[in-house]
Amino acid sequence: MKKKHSSFGVMILAAGQGKRMRSNLPKVLHEIGGKPLLYHVLSAVGAAKQGVDVSQVPVAIVVGHQREAVEKFVQEDPVLSLMDITFVHQPEQRGTGHAARFAMDSEWGEQRVKEKAAVLVLPGDLPLISPSLIEQMSSPLGRGDALKLLTCDLPDPTGYGRVVRRGKQGSVMRIVEEKDATMREKAIREVALSIYLFDAAFLQVGLRKISNKNSQAEYYLTDLISQAAARRKKINVLKWADHEDLRGVNDPWELALAGRILNERVLRSWAMKGVLFVDPWTVRIDSSVILSEGVVLHPGVILTGTTEIAAGSELGPNVVLKNVQVGQGVKIKAGTVAEDSVIGAQTQVGPYAHLRPDSKVGSRAKIGNFVELKKAVIGDGSSVAHLSYLGDAEVGRNVNIGCGFVTCNYDGRVINGQRKHKTIIEDEVFMGSDCQAVAPVRIGKGAFVASGSTITRDVPSGDLAIARSKQVNKTGYAARFRPAPSTPKESKGE
Ligand code: UD1
Ligand code: CA
Repeated sequence: MKKKHSSFGVMILAAGQGKRMRSNLPKVLHEIGGKPLLYHVLSAVGAAKQGVDVSQVPVAIVVGHQREAVEKFVQEDPVLSLMDITFVHQPEQRGTGHAARFAMDSEWGEQRVKEKAAVLVLPGDLPLISPSLIEQMSSPLGRGDALKLLTCDLPDPTGYGRVVRRGKQGSVMRIVEEKDATMREKAIREVALSIYLFDAAFLQVGLRKISNKNSQAEYYLTDLISQAAARRKKINVLKWADHEDLRGVNDPWELALAGRILNERVLRSWAMKGVLFVDPWTVRIDSSVILSEGVVLHPGVILTGTTEIAAGSELGPNVVLKNVQVGQGVKIKAGTVAEDSVIGAQTQVGPYAHLRPDSKVGSRAKIGNFVELKKAVIGDGSSVAHLSYLGDAEVGRNVNIGCGFVTCNYDGRVINGQRKHKTIIEDEVFMGSDCQAVAPVRIGKGAFVASGSTITRDVPSGDLAIARSKQVNKTGYAARFRPAPSTPKESKGE
């Protein structure tokens, strides 16, 4: 059964190019913590407890600059695509008021007016706003109230719209943009953040009245504050104390700083759940990563994407994992890089191992230094301890692969679109050091392969394969290859 729509809507302004980013990517698609800015704003909306099912809150996103890219991202994200999102096109970016007007004059806006809804306006470039901020902002307006405004006292208000009050602590009269502000107004430290809750009808009507007579020739959404004040409407103010939550992203440096704050939040929340950081200032973890109690992370660890680490695992310095599932009690030593792979419980990997996509290492296994895997399955209890390459390989259980083993999986040709051949090494095989398997090839269960062998044909189960030329010893020959001992020369001085 469908719930009744709340008389509440969210409008997100995301049409701007973000010129100061100096990048062609729309600003709201720039990422922190592995996700675009817009994702963080929407997920804060999603996480806020509004007493209604999130998927039922009607959200309008105003898009313009590269709107196809923005829409595509939202539609394809598995979480965001569950929300009730409508895109509104602002064809030219002529200011925040202009953007909001497109939303309110759209079908979406008409619907909000009809429902006598309150509309929460959020900019797409404040990725650190918290669900609790959204909860407090969206508490209902008083009867007849036009709006609620979020403000904050900033130590450095540069760049923000300043809140001009009647007298020092008096009622709010208007918001003045930095570029239009007098010296005296610039000294005001209370700023507006483009976060408002509006009565939908007041917003729709008011937006039609604003002009662009200002230094930027833009339509300012902030002008609605002076409109409300002139009509002696009550202007509710929510003053937010934590200015980290309100850090905007306007240029690459602010993007980097916001990313750092988000990272610190992610780390802190994992630390509170029992994850140990040797040096948190050097560790980067995407907000999508999942950790467990007792995980130990050494300096320089970078975990991204859908990486998940089970309890008690320890990751050494400079371990970089992207979309990797790590089982319990795993030790990954320094300098290991892995992507789209799975590592089973109690396994040891590294130092300096490289797990390329589609590698799956079983439990109690060992992947040692300078080992590269690609599309390789390594069974439980098997060991590839040193200097090896296994590509397109299937290795069974309790296999021992000696030092310097190489799967020769590529023959340099394209046959039926398939260029790579498979090596299958069954359970309990013992592979001596410095061997190669020229794929496609299968080495049967329990077989022994002598050191230095180049295996080109299948080895039946239980056999010993030796594929190297026989050794010949030439008695006493070594001396022939040694330079004759030099006779002492007479010194020139004599
Ligand atoms: C705006 C506010 C300012 C506030 C600041 C804080 C106005 C006039 N100014 O300034 O008071 O202190 O935010 O965040 O409102 N956008 C559109 N279409 C446009 C223009 C902008 O969708 O035509 C979107 C942008 O994509 C962005 C948001 O609105 O997500 C804010 O725009 P931005 O240009 O960053 O405004 P500020 O100059 O920061
Ligand atoms: Ca901004």
